[in-house]
Amino acid sequence: MEIDKHALIADLGGEAKVASMNSEAKADALEEFMMQHLNETGGGAAGKYPTMAEVDAQIETRRHRRGVGNLFLSHSGNVKRLAPMPAKPTLADFFKLRFKVTSNHVLQSANLAMKNGMSEEIILACLLHDTAQELIKVDHGWWSAQLYEPYVPEKVAFAIRYHQALRFYEDKAVGYEYPDLYRVLFGEDYKPEPYIEAAYQMVRNHKWYMDARMVTVNDLYSFEHDVNPQLEQFADIIGRHFKQPKEGLGFDNSPVAHIWRSIASPDRPL
Ligand SMILES: [Fe+2]
Ligand SMILES: [Fe+2]
Repeated sequence: MEIDKHALIADLGGEAKVASMNSEAKADALEEFMMQHLNETGGGAAGKYPTMAEVDAQIETRRHRRGVGNLFLSHSGNVKRLAPMPAKPTLADFFKLRFKVTSNHVLQSANLAMKNGMSEEIILACLLHDTAQELIKVDHGWWSAQLYEPYVPEKVAFAIRYHQALRFYEDKAVGYEYPDLYRVLFGEDYKPEPYIEAAYQMVRNHKWYMDARMVTVNDLYSFEHDVNPQLEQFADIIGRHFKQPKEGLGFDNSPVAHIWRSIASPDRPL
């Protein structure tokens, strides 16, 4: 089908917004746009955003499930061979060699948090918040928090875990509004599941609410054109708050070592 590029870009929020989206987000958005356009030309629902039923109807139109991690899927052609990891990989090695899809987004987010004068804990939470999406997207806040929990302060893991629930709930007092992208991805009539609502209610009254909230505030709206922050900018913060295991991530016998190994070696058959 023919794509009206201008309409697509406008639908996604303009050139700058599109330029800032990673390839996964672009692929998803394009898919949604096409589906919506098909619905419109077919005389179906002509709303700007798909409904939950329309999002649901897409499940059997794909060869993969929506929650699969970025490392396990290519949206254009075959997956590429991954560069080998060092014997004792550090967080920086994972950023450079495995967090290919998520790293720009989280670096931009941490950069904005730094510019906004956030605490070092919040900056670190922003830097790590979406990286488990390389492995799995479903419940990515919980997965990311679990991945980092043995190595970061408790408050950082808390902020990472609950940004996932908070992003569905506005807090205009601190400038957070429900993102249009979620209307595209989840359907315009999406209501968060009870466990997400329960997590939100718990966090809303928690002493660390604002730490988790600030991850969402510095999250989706953090994209800037031509801003390419590098990991080195955060080396001191990582050094102060991230306990790098001397054996290397994946080999320290921690409860999450296998998760790091799975990200390091996603081509292993079993
Ligand atoms: Fe996220
Ligand atoms: Fe994010």
